[in-house]
Amino acid sequence: MLLAQMLRQAGVDHLVVERQSRQHVLSRIRAGVLEWGTVDTLRRAGVGERMNTEGHVHETINIAWGGTELLSVNTMERVGRLMMAYGQTEIQKDLYAAADAVDAEPIFEADGVALHNFHQHESGPASISFLANGVKDRIECDFIAGCDGFHGVSRSSIPKEARTEYEKLYPFGWLGILSETPPLPILLYANHERGFALCSMRNPLLSRYYVQCPLTDTIEDWSDDRFWTELLARLPPEQAGSLRTGPSIEKSIAPLRSFVSEPMRFGRLFLAGDAAHIVPPTGAKGLNLAVSDVHYLSSALIGHYHGDDTGLDSYSSTALARVWGAVRFSWWLTTLLHRFPDQTAFDGRTQAQELAHLARSERAQAAMAEQYVGLDY
Ligand code: DHB
Repeated sequence: MLLAQMLRQAGVDHLVVERQSRQHVLSRIRAGVLEWGTVDTLRRAGVGERMNTEGHVHETINIAWGGTELLSVNTMERVGRLMMAYGQTEIQKDLYAAADAVDAEPIFEADGVALHNFHQHESGPASISFLANGVKDRIECDFIAGCDGFHGVSRSSIPKEARTEYEKLYPFGWLGILSETPPLPILLYANHERGFALCSMRNPLLSRYYVQCPLTDTIEDWSDDRFWTELLARLPPEQAGSLRTGPSIEKSIAPLRSFVSEPMRFGRLFLAGDAAHIVPPTGAKGLNLAVSDVHYLSSALIGHYHGDDTGLDSYSSTALARVWGAVRFSWWLTTLLHRFPDQTAFDGRTQAQELAHLARSERAQAAMAEQYVGLDY
């Protein structure tokens, strides 16, 4: 939807084909922390108005460790940048509203989507076929942007021998809840012997919390009471004492994975976001990476219609360079903050040493903050 919005601003004709219903998309609770590059991109795309008033600016990253220690890194002081809390679901609403305003609704609930004629050696237009409202349709186009997520049809339409996939699975998941309670005033990550925890927010009356859990757990294993008890046990006493609990309004478990598929272009098909790469949620890079992909892809497509194909030709390598930066950072932060089931006493000591070093060293903090706020586009 963001790519569509940016193409629309440049007068490039496009159509969005969506497998889900609008209600389904708007009911999903996704990420909530935006890099400043994302904030700027949304503003430039003309969808920043509500974010500007409702978003909450974060100045610090906070990491609790060792039971009572609290490390606070001011990203403005270290690298001159801030982050913003504003939910992906809200961005999605803003993008739908912008499309509605010009009667550019996506095709929702498209079934059996298939991509055709997009290989380099194939001539004539590429096309997408699908079934919507019980009617078979086929749309011809110059290019296909595969923005359809990890399970979408785009990546798997590229011949296997033309793809190289890199993957790392983590032996735990995140149990997340949303509750209509005032959040802690800070974004707080916790490395605790019972496992990782995270206190985040969506707005002044909506909190988002996570605890690391075994992959075999289901949400039935986690009553609200059990969740709050576990979360509070993993936080330093001061934050645990001030945290307001309440009934959850959403609860889900997500496995953690790092994944990259290269290249991000095959003929006239361009992958963006989770269709090409997955990061574990630690550091909130997934949505931000999708936005930087779309930044590169929109300018490459717009360049094409002005007679310049250099952006299209370099899209994959340009996007992947930034993707690997975020993949490495998310892996590092995940490894630093979680308890691994097979963790030895040695592993525990090196992890604690790295946190102690971060707490002492402004240079180490600057290196973390530089990547946390997002590498330049
Ligand atoms: C969220 C926030 C984070 O800082 C993070 O690393 C992961 C998730 C969130 O609010 O959902």
